[in-house]
Amino acid sequence: MAALARARNIADLRLMAKARMPRMVFDYIDGGAEDEIALRRNVQRLEAHILNWSALRDIAQIDTTRTIMGAPSALPFLISPTAASRLFHHHGESGVARAAAGAGMIYACSTIGSTTVEDIAKATPGPKWFQVYVFKDRGLVREGLARAKAAGFTALALTVDVPVAGNRERDPKNRFTIPPKVSAHTALDALSHPAWLFSLVTTPPIRPANFDTVPTDHPGGIMGFIDSQFDRTVTWKDAAWLVEQWDGPVAIKGVSNAADARACIDVGARGVWVSNHGGRQLARAAATIDTLPEVVDAVAGRASVIFDGGVRRGSDILTALALGAEGVAIGRSYLYGLGAGGEAGVARAIEILSTELRRDMALMGVTKIADLTPAHVRRPANPSS
Ligand SMILES: Cc1cc2nc3c(=O)[nH]c(=O)nc-3n(C[C@H](O)[C@H](O)[C@H](O)COP(=O)(O)O)c2cc1C
Repeated sequence: MAALARARNIADLRLMAKARMPRMVFDYIDGGAEDEIALRRNVQRLEAHILNWSALRDIAQIDTTRTIMGAPSALPFLISPTAASRLFHHHGESGVARAAAGAGMIYACSTIGSTTVEDIAKATPGPKWFQVYVFKDRGLVREGLARAKAAGFTALALTVDVPVAGNRERDPKNRFTIPPKVSAHTALDALSHPAWLFSLVTTPPIRPANFDTVPTDHPGGIMGFIDSQFDRTVTWKDAAWLVEQWDGPVAIKGVSNAADARACIDVGARGVWVSNHGGRQLARAAATIDTLPEVVDAVAGRASVIFDGGVRRGSDILTALALGAEGVAIGRSYLYGLGAGGEAGVARAIEILSTELRRDMALMGVTKIADLTPAHVRRPANPSS
């Protein structure tokens, strides 16, 4: 699409997504918890980091390949798991996974994805990970794992920053639910975006596609049922149980300090994923880039460190890699692309970030990801330490 090609950066894709989607759907992607302090902080603290360059290096060959938690990737970043992609564009999870595979990168599917893992596997043979929560009903967890394994998903991400749902105030303001309910307010919002509405009503209903046993008669709807499954009694013992259930690498997603990083190693995790859920959970959380060095130190090479939160530019990816992340996950950056133009929009988001990454590597005099070190970054004073 010519319009997508004109998007110069992720901020342009964000504006295109905003124009194409109902306000309530755009806000579900764009928003964070309460006053959105952690959401803004993730971005602002990344921007405050300074990159250093070395002059007069031979940068004729730039190599962006990276192995992330054992999976080889053409790029040092991956698709972070996000819920219900078909709500944003009818290409949904399959479109995102195809765009990721086209770029040679890893796709991670949310446990509350709106496409079955079998259909995603049919859409692309590319490398795929599955994200899970330890739900109250452990049978439901086992069902998700068995299906993901059979469909060829190779690794798991256990998300641990959602003991309860975060307080995202844009959603009740917009009367937004998944799936969206028709009211005077939401109908007007949806009707003013006819292309989006047409594709929503002409494709299968949005539901958590990977759980056949989810009851359809829960009073809070399907997502109400999922919310009721968040188990307040889950501890590291349950993380250890999950690691045992899966024959393959498990990353624990939602780590923000050294003690939790060490606990991940103790329960047998292969990956420690620094994340605050994109500022959608604890509203006053520290910026993830400020907690990354402490986690990298605590892990001390015993596991892969994955980073996410606030990545909107190639330079953000380079900053996290230089500070010790093995891989960097992107959330909103690809969702803006999905909202702007489906699979082609996600491909454009990946292209923008990888072009920025390659250009900045050249500008810094770095030709391989492994050559990035903390010396390439000047950290601003850390307000969270
Ligand atoms: C709309 C949306 C839905 C999300 N859904 C999930 C989810 O189902 N599971 C999960 O582990 N993380 C989820 N996340 C968090 C992302 O995986 C990731 O941690 C976060 O988006 C990173 O921050 P960024 O958006 O600033 O890149 C979601 C994020 C967004 C924006």
